[in-house]
Amino acid sequence: MNEFTGFVERERSRLLEDLKTWLRIPSVSTLPEHAGDCRKAAEWLAQRVRGLGFAVETIETERHPILWAEGPSVPGAPLVLCYGHYDVQPPDPLNEWVTGPFEPTERNGNLYARGTADDKGQVFCVVSALEALKKVTGGLPVNIRLLIEGEEEVGSKGLSKFLTAEPERTEADAVLVTDVNMVAPGYPSVDGALRGIVHAEIKVRTLSKDLHSGLYGGAAPNAIETLWHLLEALKGPDGRIRIPGIYDRVARPSAKELKAWRSLPIREKGFREGAGAKGLNGELRYSFLERIWARPTLEVHGIVGGFIGAGAKTVIPAEATAKCSLRLVPDQKAADVAARLVKAVKKLAPKFADVSVEILSASDPVQTPLDAWPFEVLDQAYREVWKRGLSPIRSGGSIPIVPLLQQRQAPVLLTGIGLPDDGLHAPNEKLTLDQLWKGIPLFARFFQLMAQHGRP
Ligand code: BES
Ligand code: MN
Ligand code: MN
Repeated sequence: MNEFTGFVERERSRLLEDLKTWLRIPSVSTLPEHAGDCRKAAEWLAQRVRGLGFAVETIETERHPILWAEGPSVPGAPLVLCYGHYDVQPPDPLNEWVTGPFEPTERNGNLYARGTADDKGQVFCVVSALEALKKVTGGLPVNIRLLIEGEEEVGSKGLSKFLTAEPERTEADAVLVTDVNMVAPGYPSVDGALRGIVHAEIKVRTLSKDLHSGLYGGAAPNAIETLWHLLEALKGPDGRIRIPGIYDRVARPSAKELKAWRSLPIREKGFREGAGAKGLNGELRYSFLERIWARPTLEVHGIVGGFIGAGAKTVIPAEATAKCSLRLVPDQKAADVAARLVKAVKKLAPKFADVSVEILSASDPVQTPLDAWPFEVLDQAYREVWKRGLSPIRSGGSIPIVPLLQQRQAPVLLTGIGLPDDGLHAPNEKLTLDQLWKGIPLFARFFQLMAQHGRP
């Protein structure tokens, strides 16, 4: 493939053991009991990149530390800022994992563990590319800065504060964000847009305490019933969000973009099967790709309230809570959508109920023009290593820090070695090992080609 393939061949089993060591640290950012593990995961990476000659800074936040690392200076060469995250999502439901979420295990060419694809495995891939460059060519061809955080899965508050205070940290010729996946195996891709997100918790209280449903039923308000009416009023069965003004700033993708999506190697049937669904729903007048990439949506993530134990308990629940989130698309603004959600819920709340909405996090959608020169360099690297250039796509997921990574106009390259069936946030998350072994020569070559191209 290229001069870095030999490095991968020789070092493969050691690299795999190293990645497994990192994956064994349960760096679940949302759970307070794992704060120590988040720190350990950051330290593990700090140690690793120090070994490659990087100067490492650990930046404290209110929660988990940020790692900032600078490679040896290469005067005159381009500067690439590489972003990723070491925190992971909670592993539950635990009983659905074939092997433990923090016991990385190889099975049929895949490595299974929480964080393999999202995002430790991808960060490891880039760091290993740097190692390959150093071992094979004796040094790094470009200026490299690494920015690896531990709060991506909880909204990137600490990093937002840091990059707002120090915007010059985002000055670069290119920002490489390896926290996304390819559109299909064999089809390298780059995202021109990501959705934003407004995360909220809605709490309904209708009674001072639970009541006997026979003695009070028919007249005393039920909190769960009140919550479901409210959620139904927020989004209809047709997939349409019923919050006033929510679609005001939704931009339709260009005809050219929509046309390009039609020639991607993914079809509705494969998508449906990958989702494990009998049928798809939502706003059916839009294609499934437009629905997941370019339309706002509202999902309920969980509802608690009432009695769900074994047997029967005839009760009217006094309280019910839903966690939900809205995904946003260009040109919606997270602050505006959050305000509209709060207003809509308050207005829908019946007089007999106390309803509160807490906004847990809010981040803007992302749009990144794909015409800057580093995209051509990335395209060439993929052509050499993957034998196919970049497909421009979008992703429906969110990476909250990207708008701030763009604040000094550096082109942001959203690309990755993940595959659509990696099972992010789900049981049995995996990384296909061949993707990792190809990804190392890919990124090594990308950095080399960035140096060859030079600053225009
Ligand atoms: N890496 C994902 C987002 C992603 C995945 C983007 C695949 C594009 C393709 C990221 O770690 C993630 O899960 N983000 C959260 C953000 C939220 C918790 C604030 C998300 O999208 O739910
Ligand atoms: Mn991620
Ligand atoms: Mn994630």
